Amino acid sequence: MAFRDLREYIQKSEEIGVLKRIDGVDWNLDLGALSDLYRRRKSILFDKIKGYPAGFRVFSNILATEAQQKLCMGIPAELGTLDSVRFLKNKFATFKPTPPVVRKTGPILENVLSGDKVDLLKFPTPWWHELDGGRYIGTADMVITRDPDDGWVNFGTYRVMVHDAKTTGIYIVAGRHADLIRRKYWAKGQACPVAVVCGEDPSVFIPSHLSVPYGVSEYDYAGWLRDKPVEVVKAPVTGLPIPAAAEIVLEGEIPPPEVETRLEGPFGEWTGYYASGQRNVPVIRVKSILHRNDPIITGVSSGLVPSEVRTSLSVSAILWNQLEQAGVPEVRGVWAMEPAGFTRMYAVSIKQCYAGHAKQAAMAVGGCRQGAHHSKFTIIVDEDIDPTIEDDVWFAVASRCDPATSIDIISGCWSDPLDSRLEPEKKDRGEYTHSKAIIYACKPYQWIDKFPPVVRSSPELLERVKEKYKGTLSDFSEAELKRILRAKVVK
Ligand SMILES: Cc1cc2nc3c(=O)[nH]c(=O)nc-3n(C[C@H](O)[C@H](O)[C@H](O)COP(=O)(O)O)c2cc1C
Repeated sequence: MAFRDLREYIQKSEEIGVLKRIDGVDWNLDLGALSDLYRRRKSILFDKIKGYPAGFRVFSNILATEAQQKLCMGIPAELGTLDSVRFLKNKFATFKPTPPVVRKTGPILENVLSGDKVDLLKFPTPWWHELDGGRYIGTADMVITRDPDDGWVNFGTYRVMVHDAKTTGIYIVAGRHADLIRRKYWAKGQACPVAVVCGEDPSVFIPSHLSVPYGVSEYDYAGWLRDKPVEVVKAPVTGLPIPAAAEIVLEGEIPPPEVETRLEGPFGEWTGYYASGQRNVPVIRVKSILHRNDPIITGVSSGLVPSEVRTSLSVSAILWNQLEQAGVPEVRGVWAMEPAGFTRMYAVSIKQCYAGHAKQAAMAVGGCRQGAHHSKFTIIVDEDIDPTIEDDVWFAVASRCDPATSIDIISGCWSDPLDSRLEPEKKDRGEYTHSKAIIYACKPYQWIDKFPPVVRSSPELLERVKEKYKGTLSDFSEAELKRILRAKVVK
């Protein structure tokens, strides 16, 4: 669903009961700690932040609940988790670029500050966690760059730390699309023009952390995903298209690293650790700041998983499509397991059709774009296990996997400096690889018919009991009952 702007999204979050308003907190650690307390429960709108004018706000835990993800991506509210993944998977398979519409003006141009007026410290940027090395204005941001050769526009979420009134750091993992783009400018001896959106409507933001193919603009993807083109205006200094209704945009340039880098980090990372420490990374020289009246910074406090940006629905849907594109038949469900940090452990449910089918599915997970990077465990389960119900996945691991014969280990897989388990010596050598385990938590195909049946009431029996004992079952919600009744009889 397309929102008019972040403010309408906040209002909708309030209507569905997942917004908390808190006034008068300190940006220095307290705001981050409160965000941690409400992780995966509620989004928080902080106002009257200590030392800042009322109206200069921070909106954190921006996609804290599945209900908000569903709102943003047009998933019917009544669908359960696996059905939501299936809905998105089918939707993603029909992608048609929906380019942005360029407007002459928009609310983001209400305040345009350049020259001496550029002052990053005018915003109540949080210091999120105690071991962080500074204040991070870009955590749930959209970093916009344009390919200098082909002209396509990319945006991605990359962290941005405030160094001083006119300079930020920007940490982009090697190989990300914005990294490839900025290297093209640097190769010509130029600085890379950039616009960082630090407050925006999540229905525009979502593609910034999805694996949108190189050369495809996230704007075209966002417009299609929310069934309405994004309205943009031309940023005054860089000419980059920025959302017309964004809250705060920093415009500037990233000079080549040989011209300037500064120490960045440490930062509480999505992995739940401070693994990449502090290093010299490129900076943004901020040339202008644009903001709405009473601007709102959007933020996520990463750190301890499960993450509070709940992206498992979209990540799972993308992986499911990639498995089908790789030719894996009879995939019945895919889940990026949230407590593990949603891209480090995947559960895939298949209806086994032939010997080697489970291995084929697992190898495809490790080899496709979504599953290859920084993902350590793949669990293959049978079709009677809903992979989004993590208790059931563990039941399958404990009861259908023989550790000596049902686990494969593959070494030398794609990782990065954020990997908490990377040995210090490997890290020093820049050898960013880890191993992957495949856990076959499925019945061995060779004797699948001899596997003992699962103890479960049949759907028919449960339906009958549900009708007969309506009064007794009144302490179950309709959703709980629906979930239980989805259980199948397994031979
Ligand atoms: C909350 C959040 C923070 C992220 N921070 C970073 C970051 O600091 N650096 C980075 O390279 N990727 C980060 N990512 C991952 C990228 O945004 C993601 O891989 C995205 O698809 C990259 O866009 P690209 O494919 O256009 O390069 C983050 C993702 C999320 C959800």
